[in-house]
Amino acid sequence: SGYVTYDPGYKNTGATKSAITFLDGEEGILRHCGYSIEELADKASFLEVAYLLLNGELPTQSQLDAFEADVKKYTVTNDVLLKIEQVIPSSTHPMSELSALVGLMEGQYNPAETKENILRLIAALPIFAAWNYKKSIGEALVAPDQSLDYCSNFLKMMFAKPGEDYKVDPIVSKALNKLLILHADHEQNCSTSTVRLIGSSHASLFSSISGGIQALFGPLHGGANQAVIEMLEEIKQAGGDTSKFVAMAKDKTSGFRLMGFGHRVYKNFDPRARIIKVAADDVLTALGVQDPVLTIAQELEAAALSDEYFVARKLYPNVDFYSGIIYRALGIPTDMFTILFAIGRLPGWISQHQEMMTNKEPIGRPRQIYVGSPARAFVDMANR
Ligand code: CMC
Repeated sequence: SGYVTYDPGYKNTGATKSAITFLDGEEGILRHCGYSIEELADKASFLEVAYLLLNGELPTQSQLDAFEADVKKYTVTNDVLLKIEQVIPSSTHPMSELSALVGLMEGQYNPAETKENILRLIAALPIFAAWNYKKSIGEALVAPDQSLDYCSNFLKMMFAKPGEDYKVDPIVSKALNKLLILHADHEQNCSTSTVRLIGSSHASLFSSISGGIQALFGPLHGGANQAVIEMLEEIKQAGGDTSKFVAMAKDKTSGFRLMGFGHRVYKNFDPRARIIKVAADDVLTALGVQDPVLTIAQELEAAALSDEYFVARKLYPNVDFYSGIIYRALGIPTDMFTILFAIGRLPGWISQHQEMMTNKEPIGRPRQIYVGSPARAFVDMANR
């Protein structure tokens, strides 16, 4: 069957051609459809970036108005899915629940309604997240509010008490908007590759996104944001000595890695981490939140960056290192951090899926180097 390239982890394999996201790991550059992540995070709204990813161009005002209205139209409760959600045990991790609900959208909507389903997904994820949170704290649900923008509606569904005249703090919704933009796409990362791989079998968009959520759940990928806060808490509990944890991360036998450090592609810095670090400082100051874990994070970063092990391997803080500190300041519980990543990454997943289908890419099917037993005769049970 010819020559097979061996490339574990696909470190050097370009699996597709894509016009969505440009990434230069040496220079720390990230652009969506040509626009720098710095400018997008500073100037755009999350739905504006979603539109850009899905259409390849920034929307005009009327295009954006129409897109926002379309998303609002689908920002409604699906009673069947809600019933199912309510019987999922609360011991289930929010990411497992989210993946299940997205997979189950399959049975609720016609998979052939591509445009509608894209809007349904964008509208549904914040609703599913809020259901999960309200269930976890035993509080009644707050219905989606179509008069609000995307981030404010999410915050209201999460944090308003039922019937309360809830005012969204603009500092909080602005911070959330920025974080979602910073997560919106990242070319062929593990979850996006999963979405494309599942979609390449012509499984539906719902199945593909459901699988992408499961891939994102892992601690080496999106699950790192939860793992970072847990690690920082552990350092705090242990007295705040970061050097012990740096030493442990260098010791390969410890099985411990510095969570939120290192990246497959970025080898000098992660441009998203730079923006988030500044934002973490700003948001905590603006909200008047004093989180001792921020100081520990800064000390840990300084300790690692002055250590030969991390310097030699070009390991820097990634997007997940400071994001959890902001989520926490916004009142998001730790086990929901990765849900926020999923809401942010959704437009990227969808646009990558769309691009793959439009380009009629073949089914994804890697090869292998077989290293098992050579051919041998079957041995009867009595002779084994
Ligand atoms: N702590 C300690 N050592 C590390 C770390 C770390 N966080 N990351 C990489 N290394 C070492 C690794 O042991 C290896 O050392 P050596 O060359 O001596 O064998 C070297 O650095 C290269 O690492 P690798 O595992 O070959 O790199 P990779 O590209 O396969 O993995 C990574 C990238 C992000 C999975 C990895 O850096 C990691 O596990 N980081 C911690 C988890 C994390 O923060 N993930 C979030 C990634 S960014 C956003 C996202 O995708 O969600």
